Amino acid sequence: MTEDIQQRVADDILELTLARPAKKNALTAAMYEAMTRALAAAGDDDSVGAVLFSGEGDGFCAGNDINDFLKPGGAEAAMRFIRAISRFAKPMVAAVHGQAVGVGTTMLLHCDLVYASPDARFSTPFAKLGLVPEAASSLLLPQRIGMARASAMLLLGEPLGAREAEAAGLVTAVVDGALHDHAREKARALAAMPPRALAASRALMRGDGQAIAQRLDAEEATFADALVGAEAKEAFTAFLEKRAPVFARAPLSGQGT
Ligand code: COA
Repeated sequence: MTEDIQQRVADDILELTLARPAKKNALTAAMYEAMTRALAAAGDDDSVGAVLFSGEGDGFCAGNDINDFLKPGGAEAAMRFIRAISRFAKPMVAAVHGQAVGVGTTMLLHCDLVYASPDARFSTPFAKLGLVPEAASSLLLPQRIGMARASAMLLLGEPLGAREAEAAGLVTAVVDGALHDHAREKARALAAMPPRALAASRALMRGDGQAIAQRLDAEEATFADALVGAEAKEAFTAFLEKRAPVFARAPLSGQGT
């Protein structure tokens, strides 16, 4: 159990709140495991019609906890959560304010509706950290916002502001004030829909689950290699030491030919 994920079921909604504000809601293995378990239980619980994600403090989520990335098997709980959210059969809504970094952005690609406050900022700085995209974002982000913008996000790590994210199609709507109430209202509306028609609509809209599963396999293998590589180690250490990273340039054998 961790107190860093708050769970409550009310009005047919499972609310999962990232609650580690002192660390900007960076996700630890315990937090991923709590959310994975909560989703599994919600999938079997007829009283839950939809899930609502939100974050406490001044931002939604600072991504994976970088200290955890430095531990052996440091991404395994994250990968299990990503598999769970990518297959979850009930509708999911997110209320995003402030920073949404890394998995804080890529998990949104699996949500049905994403509402953002005007200060929301979405970034996926995987390459900057010596890593590669996860959560099938290498497939879903270019599909969602186009290759040009996805390249700026996934390669350069450039953020999208709330309005840009709305215009690009990453965000359903920007909500100025009462973000959480608005998102909860939409989650309630989804929970009140006929469940079979809603589930069938979601399945049709999401298309080929195999393509996502295969992309997750490919990403996980590359991610696992990158995570223990020299570039990631330097990037993580630099972050924790609050300094700029320095990367050595080396020949890229067998790449780009
Ligand atoms: N992992 C571990 N600790 C993290 C963290 C993360 N992903 N993100 C933030 N923290 C910690 C900071 O180290 C700091 O800890 P300290 O108070 O003990 O020094 C605390 O949370 C507050 O973060 P800080 O950087 O001071 O807040 P900020 O408001 O200036 O910036 C962010 C917020 C999210 C922009 C910034 O924290 C950040 O870039 N985090 C890393 C994001 C990242 O690269 N995630 C991994 C993606 S794969």
